[in-house]
Amino acid sequence: MPDLRDKSIVITGAAGGIGAAIARALAADGAFITVADLSLDAAGKVAGEITAAGGKAIAAAVDVRERAQVRAMIDRAVEAFGRLDVLFNNAGVAQTKPFLDITEADWRFVTDVNALGVLIGMQEAVTTFRRQGGGGKIVNTASIAGKQGYEPLAHYSASKFAVVAMTQACARAFGKEGITANAFCPGVVATPMWDTIDKGFRDSGLTHNVNEAFDTFAAGAVLGRPSRPDDLVGVARYLASSDSDFMTGQSLLVDGGMVFV
Ligand SMILES: NC(=O)c1ccc[n+]([C@@H]2O[C@H](COP(=O)([O-])OP(=O)(O)OC[C@H]3O[C@@H](n4cnc5c(N)ncnc54)[C@H](O)[C@@H]3O)[C@@H](O)[C@H]2O)c1
Repeated sequence: MPDLRDKSIVITGAAGGIGAAIARALAADGAFITVADLSLDAAGKVAGEITAAGGKAIAAAVDVRERAQVRAMIDRAVEAFGRLDVLFNNAGVAQTKPFLDITEADWRFVTDVNALGVLIGMQEAVTTFRRQGGGGKIVNTASIAGKQGYEPLAHYSASKFAVVAMTQACARAFGKEGITANAFCPGVVATPMWDTIDKGFRDSGLTHNVNEAFDTFAAGAVLGRPSRPDDLVGVARYLASSDSDFMTGQSLLVDGGMVFV
């Protein structure tokens, strides 16, 4: 078992999808979870399920683009659980647009949440880790799109390359303080995000049937099926626990075998 008992772990975008799966699993490992998302109600539902199952969790409302809200989210975790041990910067948005149709507003929307949001999260976590005397872990959710650019997801891919770059930069900046920063890179995961991506393919005339884009992309996984949110739990647990203490700056592909680098 990993040593996550009593660790204070904040997870953004944890009201659903991959974040909720990680929140439930790490709570079952004994961690104290702050379930953070745009909607306090939605975050509260996941936190409520965790507490009903005997775990410890609170909910926090956060828009990861807003520094004051990110600061308040971390402060709330520290107030409830005494400290911050791990921050998962997992919140994200996706948008499918043919390359030539991406507007400045599209670019700003996607990169503000996926890249600026991660930068702010890492900065505020490091501030807290320093106040606590050093040490601490940051785990970012990147993507296979952080390793390869996909044509109708150019701005999304750029935002995820940014996550990989910032993970490396943060690792170099704070390693001597015992702070690690790593990322994991999911492939094609059955979550509401892929409903948005799949609809974007259809709206752009790139596919015609529901789940056609999802099935086509997922068929690229050598392990023969799309990912489920639970497939990311193992790597999340590893990166949050002391088992990964001597690893930093890495972005691990956990995609069923889609991208080999
Ligand atoms: N689903 C996939 O195939 C896939 C693949 C690779 C990477 N990812 C990444 O995994 C992460 C989780 O995605 P998911 O698939 O679980 O999607 P999801 O849409 O189910 O969950 C994303 C969560 O982020 C929240 N969110 C969005 N904008 C926010 C903001 N500004 N502030 C706070 N929260 C915000 C949403 O409310 C939602 O609960 C994202 O970073 C995504 O880019 C997903």
